[in-house]
Amino acid sequence: MDIFRTKSVENSLADTHDPEFQLKRNLTALDLTVFGIGVIIGAGIFTLTGTAAALYAGPSVVFSFVLAAICCGLAALCYAEFASTVPVAGSAYTFSYATLGELVAWIIGWDLILELMLGASVVAQGWSTYFVTFLDEIGLGWPDAVGPTADAGWGHFNLAAFLLVAALTLLVAVGIKESLRVNLVLVGVKLFVVLFVIVAGLFYVNGANYDPFVPPAAAPVDSSGITQPLFQWMFGIEQQTFGIFGIISAASVVFFAYIGFDVVATTAEEARNPQKDLPRGILGSLVICTVLYVAVALVITGMVKYDQIDTSAALATAFQDVGRDGFATLIAAGAVAGLTTVVMTLMIGAIRVLFAMSRDGLLSPRFAHVNPRSGTPVRITVTIGLLVALVASFTPIGDLEEMVNIGTLTAFALVSIAVPVLRNTRPDLERSFRVPWSPFLPILSALVCVYLALNLSIETWLRFVVWMVLGFVVYFGYGYGHSRVGRGTGIPAPDFAVHEDGEEIRD
Ligand code: ALA
Repeated sequence: MDIFRTKSVENSLADTHDPEFQLKRNLTALDLTVFGIGVIIGAGIFTLTGTAAALYAGPSVVFSFVLAAICCGLAALCYAEFASTVPVAGSAYTFSYATLGELVAWIIGWDLILELMLGASVVAQGWSTYFVTFLDEIGLGWPDAVGPTADAGWGHFNLAAFLLVAALTLLVAVGIKESLRVNLVLVGVKLFVVLFVIVAGLFYVNGANYDPFVPPAAAPVDSSGITQPLFQWMFGIEQQTFGIFGIISAASVVFFAYIGFDVVATTAEEARNPQKDLPRGILGSLVICTVLYVAVALVITGMVKYDQIDTSAALATAFQDVGRDGFATLIAAGAVAGLTTVVMTLMIGAIRVLFAMSRDGLLSPRFAHVNPRSGTPVRITVTIGLLVALVASFTPIGDLEEMVNIGTLTAFALVSIAVPVLRNTRPDLERSFRVPWSPFLPILSALVCVYLALNLSIETWLRFVVWMVLGFVVYFGYGYGHSRVGRGTGIPAPDFAVHEDGEEIRD
């Protein structure tokens, strides 16, 4: 049994020319940067800034944002090198297939699907809350029976979240260029609101709120059983609040705010000049978001004393606290626009990863069929849309949020390790972007990711293990036997072909 067989970089690239599985190459560096900002700025900055400042770090949450940005920056450099060497849809999944072998690639792909689908569902629920708040503020309402409720159990139907995902699925199925055009407008609104918070907020900053900038260390977080971080259980070191260690705890909370730059790499096959534009898109969007996050954190902790920050909607309530209710409505509108793009981009990411896995035969290749009219994999799009819509509208997913972090961190760690491995095994490949100080930086990047992942709760790790076991069942039950690499065929003998008008015929 050869579970470490690799798919050569040349084979991956050749696949992108196979007409049956070809995506349209439309995107420029600017499109990719906007795409990145579209997915990065979301629930993280709109809600987590407040939580992290109030519970863990006070004004020094600014340093937590910088720390989280450095961690993500290290991983982003590794992603950029890979994306410039293997510009194929599937991101971390494809990179690891070329280096660490099929089983690891499967684990990563399975893991990314979890991160992206669950991420889209979680943010869709967050969107519905802001949407209904916004409707209330402008004097319209939304029926409670089908609205978002904080303590909704199983069986409650969240119509707003369902409709959002349904509309986005339609848009994504129509075409990526069209999706990104809508994205551009929404990202514009979102950026405007974030800049508005920074500029308008500056007028209400009170220097006294920055004192102390690093609040003195307080009692550790009280957690035990399966809700405690794995790290605490393993080493007996409790999660700290405030002080220097509080900054680190807050960094693992605000890490979520940066998730998404990796999704840029999933659109590799749709970029016009992937070798140059992908590194620009990945690193550019990360740098822009870091600057904005640091500025927002500085303004919010300057407007409201950290121990009085509202942890559920820090940005909007900071303005209510200074008597500016109208501004709060505007921020709610910005959050609605902002979170829409996050849901859409996470869904596009999930679709592209599933597409790459199906094209490789690890899942049924029929699934990856690209509709010639829209140039998108419609079957996969509808499947992902349906799953995200169901999870977002029917389940109480609140505490599944950490699952998004664990999926991302595992992928970051493996991609980081894969960089020096590919340099060793394939030094001949053209790399238009190279991580400096390899293997030192990639190894550091992997270690930081593992450390952050160990800070997630035991509960999250257990759920993750269950998802992975399910993944192994699918891999050994189907993927291993049908893998194109395993069958040595490169391109599978198709038992169906596609007519010019897009209809599929079978032989
Ligand atoms: N970074 C994204 C957000 O904050 C996932 O919503």
